[in-house]
Amino acid sequence: MKTTASYLRLIGIMVLAFFLMEFIVASGDDWAIIKYPVIWAVLGLVFLFAIAVEVISETLNSILFRGMNEEAQERYLAAEAHKKENNWFKKTYEKLLAKKPIEKEEDIVLDHNYDGIRELDNVLPPWWVYMFYATIIFAVVYLVRYHVFDGIDQEEEYEIAVAEARAQIEEYKKTAKDLIDVNTVELLTGEQDIAAGKTVFEANCVACHKVDGGGGIGPNLVDDYWILGGGIKNVFNTISEGGRAGKGMVAWKTDLKPSEMAQVASYVLSLHGTTPADPKDPEGDLWVDPNAPVEEVEVEQIDSTKIQVKIEDQPVTGDVVEE
Ligand code: HEC
Repeated sequence: MKTTASYLRLIGIMVLAFFLMEFIVASGDDWAIIKYPVIWAVLGLVFLFAIAVEVISETLNSILFRGMNEEAQERYLAAEAHKKENNWFKKTYEKLLAKKPIEKEEDIVLDHNYDGIRELDNVLPPWWVYMFYATIIFAVVYLVRYHVFDGIDQEEEYEIAVAEARAQIEEYKKTAKDLIDVNTVELLTGEQDIAAGKTVFEANCVACHKVDGGGGIGPNLVDDYWILGGGIKNVFNTISEGGRAGKGMVAWKTDLKPSEMAQVASYVLSLHGTTPADPKDPEGDLWVDPNAPVEEVEVEQIDSTKIQVKIEDQPVTGDVVEE
């Protein structure tokens, strides 16, 4: 484990082993390594094994090297050095930098000299030059595509994205009926919804609230008085979460979908003001909708300086009002 290459090999093997495990072990949507922690142990073994292989091969190398005669050792070292010099990565790296080695700087030094400070005429680093060429090619392609052949511009791209998003929202709304909760529920007035609410009510609620909502075991639902609060939000909440503990009104959210609860809540509220056959007495408090529009009351402006005060049991002296 002396060279960078051996560390790189080690990392490579571990990455490979990891993905192999993920690929082989069926783990559904989860990472296999999270679902089956034993994989950690397997990877640990692979790790130790890889280290062992590295160490052994290095040791073997060095034993063999020592076993060679001097001439063979020299040849071996020369071959190794040659390999190193011809390393593709190293060569490419050096090429891209195009650095002059320090020994050769004399070749490129310019002939001015400011108090001993001199200047080297280095070439532009090829990596930079190549990038510059790439930008030129990009510019040409861009020009042709967007200015000659009139590709879509930002505005059109925006319009397309918005249109797509709109379509998605429409699609989403079709399936999102059941996303309503107590905060977003609204009173439904459509005939279909009320009819659906009626069906739900007759299937689940009439045993306690009677068909006409007049009340039996449960309270009267058509009057102005509510134990748990009136208005669509409270009624929806009562149906969803149930009444007070032990009173008999269970939470319906496990049996009914949110859309159904909204429908039945709306149906219940649509019964308001009807006259049931045998109504139960009102229970709870009078409910006033806090959102109901307030009626405008005309207020007469009175000028306090013009008020005439009459005091009955004392004679009035003089005029009270005088302008
Ligand atoms: C087992 C009998 C029973 C059934 C079934 C039942 N309820 Fe109730 N309901 C009650 C009782 C009891 C109360 C009073 C709860 C309380 O006092 O906390 C109540 C209260 C309510 C209230 C609140 C009334 C108020 O004054 O605040 C609403 C709204 C309501 N029920 C709607 C329904 C709907 C809709 C269904 C059908 C999905 C239903 N209930 C099914 C027994 C029942």
